[in-house]
Amino acid sequence: MRLILLGLPGAGKGTQAKVLAERLGLLHISTGDMFRQASAEGTELGRRAQEFMSAGKLVPDEVTIGMLLERISKPDASLGFMLDGFPRTIPQAEALDQVLEARDEAIDAVLYIQVPEADLMARLTGRWTCAQCGAIYHEQTSPPKQAGVCDLDGTALTQREDDRPDTVRARLDTNREWTEALAGYYRRAGKLHEVDGTGDPTSITTRLLDELAGVQSAREKA
Ligand code: AP5
Ligand code: MG
Repeated sequence: MRLILLGLPGAGKGTQAKVLAERLGLLHISTGDMFRQASAEGTELGRRAQEFMSAGKLVPDEVTIGMLLERISKPDASLGFMLDGFPRTIPQAEALDQVLEARDEAIDAVLYIQVPEADLMARLTGRWTCAQCGAIYHEQTSPPKQAGVCDLDGTALTQREDDRPDTVRARLDTNREWTEALAGYYRRAGKLHEVDGTGDPTSITTRLLDELAGVQSAREKA
């Protein structure tokens, strides 16, 4: 399966992608994680991307599209993938469709995780992540067993630079219109599945899996 997780910053894309990709045997590809890794490595791409990320803006399409298309061409993506944070613009969605079509492939479903904007600020400003394994925590709703330390590998947790309140506001402003435009693009293609992203993460995972079971059974009947 080739899937896309769509949703505003803080909707839970990363949290859900980790669980779903493992359950479904798909490769989890997060363009945000790729940019953060490049920035931590101090590459030219990372330095350029960091300027946009710190301002809560989108990294330009000419940088992002090439990076993602190269990633999905690697052998480990051939059995299927779950995209988290891509596409974020219509040109990104079109470029993805064109490349998949040339390979006789297509996106199977787009899962749009919907959360009221009023909840997103608290989710993002309370987030802590493990730079080593990517585990995602929240100081109130899903705290680690020991404050500031990853449950899985004992690494010190960090907060993302773009999770400061001012930057979160800028990210929401940047993403609001694009997210709706992308929802329209995939709705017209008959691929959009809207899922309620409120409640505890486990029940959201169940909703997403139920939605995917429907996609799979429709595919088998076709
Ligand atoms: P990216 O890393 O993709 O950030 P984002 O879209 O802003 O999304 P987040 O990662 O902040 O949120 P999420 O939905 O993954 O939520 P999470 O599961 O962590 O992109 C960062 C930047 O990179 C962009 O701003 C841009 O500059 C650049 N970029 C990336 N891709 C790009 C592209 N394609 N084009 C151009 N630029 C691009 O959850 C958030 C918090 O909520 C956590 O603390 C979690 O524990 C908590 N939480 C999760 N689920 C629940 C729940 N059900 N109830 C309560 N709390 C919950
Ligand atoms: Mg994320």
